[in-house]
Amino acid sequence: PQRPILIQGPMPIEAEKFAERLENVKVEEAGATFEFYIGTVEGYPVIVTKTGKGTANTGAATALAIEKYNPAAIINQGTSGGHDPALNVFDIVLGERSVNIGALKTGDLAKGEGIEPTEWKPMDLMASEGSAGEDPDAENIRYYEGDKELLAAANAVKDTHTKGKVVEGTIGSADFWNNEVDRINWIHEKYGTSVEEMETASAAQISAAYDIPFLGIRILSNNKTNDGAYNPDTAAANQDYVFEVVKEYISSL
Ligand code: 5AD
Repeated sequence: PQRPILIQGPMPIEAEKFAERLENVKVEEAGATFEFYIGTVEGYPVIVTKTGKGTANTGAATALAIEKYNPAAIINQGTSGGHDPALNVFDIVLGERSVNIGALKTGDLAKGEGIEPTEWKPMDLMASEGSAGEDPDAENIRYYEGDKELLAAANAVKDTHTKGKVVEGTIGSADFWNNEVDRINWIHEKYGTSVEEMETASAAQISAAYDIPFLGIRILSNNKTNDGAYNPDTAAANQDYVFEVVKEYISSL
């Protein structure tokens, strides 16, 4: 049988619109959090997962889906917050790379010496099997590359997204929501992030562990750096675009 394409979305508003467009759907559940909508697009097997929010839910949902359904490719999609003032609400970032922006090692400060977040260093949890706190190799930023064929399919249907532009960039993920513009700028400079959200890098990490082609596709629902106010309608617009990407990718197989 053909291996399915897996589309992930964290929140109901980020998964259900796409799931509604599947044909021949059956729903499977795992735990209290995960829903898998198993169907087809133009006769080709496609599975939509509602993963829940954040890195742990997404990592687990990704490993489960790989073990259960053996997907040929994985797209993690949803909303995000802008780190780049040139990007506006409704613009879409294709994850040319993604990175865990929540893995950090603090400086060495004694009692009473305070908390210095701007001195914190990126930490690479995959650098070695030794202690990330002691291993000098762990002072490293680990990027996960987006798959070239998925990127090509996404670029080929760019023009179908009319509510904003579509650009390649860096997606940063962690279980936080930053509203401090100085902190956003610090992350933007250190990691080169275009946007932040809470899922892509964890799905990329698990996809890489199983050697499955992966791409993050994230629309801006907000951007603190240019006063872009939160708009939840972006979630549906992103699924419309990702549906076009999936059809294009299928036609290239
Ligand atoms: N910071 C963090 N997560 C964001 N999301 C949208 N905008 C942001 C932001 N500025 C996404 C996350 C998560 C949900 C809360 O929305 O990926 O799933």
